[in-house]
Amino acid sequence: MTIPRPAAVVVLAAGEGTRMRSATPKVLHEIGGRSLVGHVLTTARALSPQRLAVVVRHERAAVTDHVLTLDPEVLIVDQDDVPGTGRAVQVALEALDGAGELTGSVVVLAGDVPLLDVGTISQLLVAHHADVNAVTVLTTVVADPTGYGRVLREAGTGDVLAVVEERDADHVQRAVDEINTSVYVFDADVLRRALTRLDRSNAQGELYLTDVLALARADGGHVRALRTEDVLSVEGVNDRVQLARLGAELNRRTVEDWMRAGVTVVDPATTWVDVDVDLAADVTLLPGTQLHGATSVATGARIGPDTTLTNVEVGEGATIVRTHGSDAVIGAGASVGPFAYLRPGTILGERGKIGTFVETKNATIGRGSKVPHLSYVGDAEIGVETNIGAASVTVNYDGVHKHRTVIGSYARTGADNMFVAPVQVGDGAYTGAGSVIRRDVPAGALAVSQGSQRNVEGWVERSRPGTPAAEASARARSAGSSDPGTTHETENDR
Ligand code: UD1
Ligand code: MG
Repeated sequence: MTIPRPAAVVVLAAGEGTRMRSATPKVLHEIGGRSLVGHVLTTARALSPQRLAVVVRHERAAVTDHVLTLDPEVLIVDQDDVPGTGRAVQVALEALDGAGELTGSVVVLAGDVPLLDVGTISQLLVAHHADVNAVTVLTTVVADPTGYGRVLREAGTGDVLAVVEERDADHVQRAVDEINTSVYVFDADVLRRALTRLDRSNAQGELYLTDVLALARADGGHVRALRTEDVLSVEGVNDRVQLARLGAELNRRTVEDWMRAGVTVVDPATTWVDVDVDLAADVTLLPGTQLHGATSVATGARIGPDTTLTNVEVGEGATIVRTHGSDAVIGAGASVGPFAYLRPGTILGERGKIGTFVETKNATIGRGSKVPHLSYVGDAEIGVETNIGAASVTVNYDGVHKHRTVIGSYARTGADNMFVAPVQVGDGAYTGAGSVIRRDVPAGALAVSQGSQRNVEGWVERSRPGTPAAEASARARSAGSSDPGTTHETENDR
């Protein structure tokens, strides 16, 4: 089935969105990692229209910037202070005709209906052309039609007579539960002629786009409706309750699509996947996992439980447990977490490890290298097959500037090391536990920085008399223990 290519798509986004109670324009609120208008633009583009226009007015600058960032080819059209959807389409058509009069079909979409899919609009276009309609409107039946325009049909043919707005409707009309979704295909000539005849003699004093339907019919055109059963796909966002509901529904659909594509999702209800995320077959997502932005996960990888990744590339067979990460690359077979924090610029090589209570930032950790426990690695480069001892820190900040730590390949650094950057540790070098590495360590050297240990015999009993430590010390001495680290409890103790 070939989908007729529309001459233009017009996206209406001039409305105010007062019920969001937000400093952010309504159409810029996000679900699934994409703005509401971003969803509509993606769908609009998929129809390959010759021209694409977005009508703006409220919060013009913010909406315009956002739309042009997403799609620089969009024609931005300003609505003036004449209110109504009819006015919005009037100014859009004028602007579109400015580049040569449109012929063919014009699709109108609302900027706040994020779940509308390409398939449904394609069906609308196919029906419009097959039936040679003047107007084809997408409708649906809802349990509570309050607030919507009601679709009045001719008995027998089922053709649309008119759409009447709630506030202009009589009791009989209000009882109709088939509503206008504000998604239409118009023949461009029909639309142009009808738009000139709109007036504001209605309850809201607006120019209604819906009046075009009755006018087109009066001119002898066919006005028909396509009814969708998928009510949520045509629901507009008016407040944050709807935003959350449609966000959850979008996620449900996204996660379901990934499961059908071969991804195991143990708990779909607590797994959130943005629309731009890419998952391979045989990825496993455990409960409480959120994947955002341009995150991609290769086959065999296991993510979660309780992991949030934003713009992270995860390699084949990697394991990421209880981790928070962004703008990072995790190599194939690598292991991360539990309780890891990957900040931007983290690159972990194949089979590498970023372990428990480890934070990384701007750090390249080579193939097979491990940072297993309680460490901070920032502004650093670690070669291949190196092991970093527990509780180590790259001391990258001197209070004014950030400096780099470079550690070579096959190195073994001791526990509790401070690498005071800028500093370099050569290939195969070792460092002793508790070292503060302030100077470069040559390849193959052992660096030991701490002073040698001094035991001050009897210090506790002299300086801390009467404390439990002093008493334990006295008992140990009188027992004549040869092992100074062991206490010898007797039956009388405690
Ligand atoms: C409109 C329809 C109604 C339909 C309902 C579906 C009209 C007269 N009524 O109602 O039949 O059931 O949508 O949600 O068309 N907009 C502009 N400029 C304006 C006014 C609105 O661009 O001057 C945009 C809004 O940003 C929104 C869309 O048009 O994206 C719909 O406007 P909205 O006010 O939500 O719909 P209603 O007029 O209430
Ligand atoms: Mg309105």
